[in-house]
Amino acid sequence: MRISPQTYAARRRRLLEQLPEGSVALVAGSTLVNRNRDAEYPFRQNSDFYYLTGFDEPDALLVLKPGRAEGETVLFCPPRDPDMEIWTGYRAGPEGCVERYGADQAFVLAELDEQVPQLLDGSRRLYYALGSDETLDNRVRGWLNAVRAKARQGAEAPEELVLLDNLLHEMRLFKESEELDVMRAAARISAAAHVEAMLYAHPGVHEYELEAKILSHCMGEGARHQAYSPIVGGGANGCILHYIENNAPIDDGSLVLIDAGCELDCYASDITRTFPVNGRFSPEQRALYELVLKTNEACIALIRPGLPWNEVHDLSVRLLTEGLVELGLLEGEPEKLIEEGAYRTFYMHRIGHWLGMDVHDVGNYKVAGNWRPLEPGMVMTVEPGIYVSPHNESVEPRWRGIGIRIEDDVVVTEQGCEVLTADVPKSAEAIEALMNRN
Ligand code: GLY
Ligand code: MN
Ligand code: MN
Repeated sequence: MRISPQTYAARRRRLLEQLPEGSVALVAGSTLVNRNRDAEYPFRQNSDFYYLTGFDEPDALLVLKPGRAEGETVLFCPPRDPDMEIWTGYRAGPEGCVERYGADQAFVLAELDEQVPQLLDGSRRLYYALGSDETLDNRVRGWLNAVRAKARQGAEAPEELVLLDNLLHEMRLFKESEELDVMRAAARISAAAHVEAMLYAHPGVHEYELEAKILSHCMGEGARHQAYSPIVGGGANGCILHYIENNAPIDDGSLVLIDAGCELDCYASDITRTFPVNGRFSPEQRALYELVLKTNEACIALIRPGLPWNEVHDLSVRLLTEGLVELGLLEGEPEKLIEEGAYRTFYMHRIGHWLGMDVHDVGNYKVAGNWRPLEPGMVMTVEPGIYVSPHNESVEPRWRGIGIRIEDDVVVTEQGCEVLTADVPKSAEAIEALMNRN
């Protein structure tokens, strides 16, 4: 399941149409990152660059110049060099960039310093994501200075620098049907991976063994990378929001919180499920679980076009606070507790985030100072949680060390929303039935 070359071309066209005459845009790809000595982290293309090109090689640069006679899309790429390719694998080279990736013109990276100043010359406005990469910022400064140095020969350097984010990230926020197909596929793979982990869980299992089940399933389905480091927290480790050690054995009677989602063609999925390692919730675990589940379901039911983004979060705060009061973990009037932020001891993050090529995807949450109304095509997570610190002496000991989050991915539709992650059981009964089936 991949995005088609026609879609990449259509995105470039749509962006080019929004660029005013006399402008030029630079969008840089990622570079390989060293892990230790000669070993590198797996390469992950820059999301903005990939969104516009589908080109997956390191160090590339895209230049878009509306109205340019020799072509509006120019790609710079690593060279085709048979000796190097023995080490690095095949490269598309400039010819491949034109034939397979839809560039009007393409050059090897060695030509950057020669060609980019020429492309900048005569453009009044430069669109570039200044501040994301210091090395590249310096290089762009060098290219601008190279144009300025030729002023007496008639060269004209851009006068205005604008971030491309507003235009490009607004496009990325609204998912096209092809993108939704890829995201549905990613979510389905991740959902099945969570089911595998639930089926394999047993008292004494190590967190990394459950992580291995997740990774193995996703890779086996063609999703070689995860969208983020999986979080597998047994017992009180489930209360650490970004726990990624994943190296402890999980005791009988504990819950396990797994937050993991694969990436497919650079699109993320992001799922959290929490379940008892022995297949049966204790009364305290069940009581808190039911509260988080009720909140997750109520928030999903609320999502529809026109709803201000923040109202989903506000509902989660209200339901969780009321529930915590009912169960005796908070004392007082829910309204006052919400005003004071008392719930933050147990629920310290937001209800969710945009989801797309980046797990915490791009796109503004506020427009002109107001929370943005939801619109069809936006994809977001819904992930309420309750985390009772093992050191919280203000609650009875029986509640301490319980961490629960239930996270789904949803697309806003014309009518309401579509849940992409419905394939993993969510009710306590369904989880127990799955884990105890023989
Ligand atoms: N896994 C990151 C998040 O849920 O936001
Ligand atoms: Mn998550
Ligand atoms: Mn999330």
